[in-house]
Amino acid sequence: MNIATNKIICVVGTRPEAIKMAPVIQGLQTQSWADVRILATAQHRHLLDQVLNLFNIAPDIDLNIMRSNQTLTALTARLLLELENVLYIEKPAAVLVQGDTTTVMAVALACFYQDIPIGHVEAGLRTRDMRNPFPEEANRVITGKLAHWHFVPTECSRQNLLHEGIADEKIFITGNTVIDALLTVAAQDIALPIPVAPDKRLVLITAHRRENFGEPLRNICQAIRTLAQNNPEVVFLYPVHPNPNVQDTVNGLLADRPNIILSSPLNYVHFVSAIKRSYLILTDSGGIQEEAPALGKPVLVLRNETERSEAIEHGVAKLVGTQYEQIIAATQLLLDDHTAYQSMVKGISPYGDGHAAQRIIAVMREYFS
Ligand code: UD1
Ligand code: UDP
Repeated sequence: MNIATNKIICVVGTRPEAIKMAPVIQGLQTQSWADVRILATAQHRHLLDQVLNLFNIAPDIDLNIMRSNQTLTALTARLLLELENVLYIEKPAAVLVQGDTTTVMAVALACFYQDIPIGHVEAGLRTRDMRNPFPEEANRVITGKLAHWHFVPTECSRQNLLHEGIADEKIFITGNTVIDALLTVAAQDIALPIPVAPDKRLVLITAHRRENFGEPLRNICQAIRTLAQNNPEVVFLYPVHPNPNVQDTVNGLLADRPNIILSSPLNYVHFVSAIKRSYLILTDSGGIQEEAPALGKPVLVLRNETERSEAIEHGVAKLVGTQYEQIIAATQLLLDDHTAYQSMVKGISPYGDGHAAQRIIAVMREYFS
């Protein structure tokens, strides 16, 4: 195959990929040796565009793949067909992907078919339970088998890959690029666009995982409803993910409480200001489990398993699952018990120092020299 010598394609598909890839893209764009091309699959449309605009990133290629309520099969099939074509035309020397979405898995497979080396940013995260989170654990395992460079955030992720037989010389501990993005954005003093009285405590909530659709998400919402009733002086802010499965349940169960604010997804600067303003966070998101400790906020994780075990081990996050009673008990404890609250506010940030992108770029620079 005819390869353009230093062409690196950076792929983004969803909101978290764009946030976490932005520092790598911006860093690579300053390197004279690198011919950087940005490929947006647009598995997300509005959520992705929000982030790309914020970081001033303009895709060179946009597959515009999102459809309303897309199934995993249709999404994967469309991605593979479109990617085959793009890779055949572009002939990159390397491709960088980030995280564990269907975009990442499909790009890894499409590159494998055309023998193009893949760099996996945020490699090595594992729960070792293929259905939790679904389908992300499978996406990571498949991408891990196919990648040439594994950029892991922590020693724990390195160990996960070694355990799967990945050669040590292909693994690079870099930290998570989300901390690079977060520290840049958090340094700006941007006001929360939703007014919350200064004397009110704010509980920030997000939940969107596919394995939580149906009963688990209904339990989460019922628990939030009860917490809001029992704590009228606390404000509960829930920016709701646009996935219709999430919208229908959340709007159906939480729309009519005076101290629950349901908003559209916040753009990243506003979401970071919401984290900074919050007292505690309830979430099933991956990225927020990394960001909250970096900003000293306790996180209650609305999942039965997490691949971000470092935050749990340091006591700055707690796995509370999706049962009504457990969510209420864990949240009420942090609202009522100052000692319990303080024990989770330690200023420990296990996922990086804000220089992950530089380390990734250094590895790529060495390869291309
Ligand atoms: C996807 C990822 C998940 C990641 C999450 C981050 C997969 C299978 N899932 O989940 O790993 O944690 O993104 O947010 O890769 N939608 C819009 N506008 C948008 C984005 C989504 O309307 O900008 C709606 C569409 O109806 C879309 C649906 O949400 O069909 C689901 O989007 P999809 O990318 O399939 O999965 P997510 O649940 O967003
Ligand atoms: N986020 C955002 N606006 C929101 C909710 C989340 O900008 O309304 C950011 C959040 O700070 C984190 C990322 O989006 O960086 C996480 O995305 P999401 O929870 O959708 O995906 P996951 O991390 O679970 O894959």
